Amino acid sequence: MRIAVIGTGHVGLVSGACFAAKGHQVVCVDIDPERVQAINEGRVPFFEAGLEKLVQEQLTQGLRASLDLPAAVADADVILIAVGTPFDGHRLDLRHIEKASRQVGEALRDHTGVPLVLVKSTVLPGTTDGLVREQLEAGSGRKVGEGFSLGMNPEFLREGQAVSDFMVPDRIVLGGSDDRSHEIQAELYRDFPCPDVIRTDNSTAEMIKYTSNSLLATLISFSNEIGNLCATLPGVDVRKVMSGVHLDKRLAPILDRSVEADERIRPGILTYLEAGCGFGGSCLPKDVQSLIAFGEDRGASMGILDSVIQLNRRQPEHTLSLIRRHFPDLKGLSVAILGLAFKPGTSDIRESPALPVIRSLLGDGAHLRAYDPAALDTTRAALGPELSSAVRFTDDLAEAVDGVSAAVILTSWPQLKALPELLEPMESPPLVIDGRRMLDPESVPRYEGIGRGPSPDHC
Ligand SMILES: NC(=O)c1ccc[n+]([C@@H]2O[C@H](COP(=O)([O-])OP(=O)(O)OC[C@H]3O[C@@H](n4cnc5c(N)ncnc54)[C@H](O)[C@@H]3O)[C@@H](O)[C@H]2O)c1
Repeated sequence: MRIAVIGTGHVGLVSGACFAAKGHQVVCVDIDPERVQAINEGRVPFFEAGLEKLVQEQLTQGLRASLDLPAAVADADVILIAVGTPFDGHRLDLRHIEKASRQVGEALRDHTGVPLVLVKSTVLPGTTDGLVREQLEAGSGRKVGEGFSLGMNPEFLREGQAVSDFMVPDRIVLGGSDDRSHEIQAELYRDFPCPDVIRTDNSTAEMIKYTSNSLLATLISFSNEIGNLCATLPGVDVRKVMSGVHLDKRLAPILDRSVEADERIRPGILTYLEAGCGFGGSCLPKDVQSLIAFGEDRGASMGILDSVIQLNRRQPEHTLSLIRRHFPDLKGLSVAILGLAFKPGTSDIRESPALPVIRSLLGDGAHLRAYDPAALDTTRAALGPELSSAVRFTDDLAEAVDGVSAAVILTSWPQLKALPELLEPMESPPLVIDGRRMLDPESVPRYEGIGRGPSPDHC
């Protein structure tokens, strides 16, 4: 199939490269000339494991990037809209979707066939059949179901594992306004192995995506709330509490009772039932906030999700309270921030807990070093020149922790597993604040972890 992908962010570029790998002819369109040039030269403008190699391979096959949206659309059987849908502080910001839909609509005027327009961006229920449809029809002068088909195909990839998630999806949700839009999508995904393909209407497809992300965010904030309580209970550690909770056979089913040594399936969802310094990224915070605003507009109280967000906002400060237990005055204290990306495997720092932690520590007069293997440039850009100049950035872990008084783990990069070995020979090793509970508390000389109550000896 010939595919035009509008927007070359994490979703657009991963989708484009993966569809090309399955033999489709793909043009990835963006408004950013530097981004388009970089992609055509085989450079991916952000870090995503395995993506650059895939893009380089596919550039010699069916993939290219372009600034020319009308030309890409005029030739396409399927047009994917994968532009950003940020939260503007009050509600979902649909400016990019509106503009891209209008531009696609205008480009459809010259189309000789009846292509499928597919919304890949995360949008609230009713957006595809409302705003997107209106813009497409107004721009093209065509009617949905006659001059073009319209579908909504939410994306569930996780940054850091985006390529493998796209290539081997856990579900494919085909939202469509008619049978034809379902049939074309089924053909598009024919070569992707997937146990479950759901065909539904556009609004249900939109709601499936929001509900999935809201559930994940709720599990994280629930675990953090339990962790914050455990931190007040002498001798209680949230890790042990949660490992007991994980053994519920409805969460971790026992494989076969007839086998002597019973084994369990340990589903990935259990990683959301762990306490930490809070969730970030370009999806969970904005999707949950957009759904809250949407629900409230419709008179549906969103109390649970509201609490999920409130707790998550407090979690970075809660992490810092662990440093303050040991150093009540942070002025002049040297602190290493270990991990800036909102999760390992990505350079994305959008809504990362590292940003409020850095701002707060700088505000208290601490001297900061910041370590990350992938997200130094994105963090500098997010902090701006003034705050960035007050931080010593490094991708060398040994340099980051050398001589500091405290080191705060905020991203569970596997590289940080080397920390105990690095600290072992030090005369005055730093206090380690483990915001991701990734180290054995006994493996470093001085340790504080989220969700650990005080030692019973001290009570
Ligand atoms: N990032 C994720 O992990 C993820 C996962 C699932 C779903 N989503 C959703 O997918 C959508 C895209 O997310 P992202 O992280 O890839 O976004 P992004 O902001 O990283 O990238 C969007 C790209 O679209 C381009 N763009 C904007 N308007 C355009 C236009 N009119 N024409 C051409 N290009 C245009 C921008 O220049 C940018 O490069 C969002 O709705 C997001 O919620 C994201």
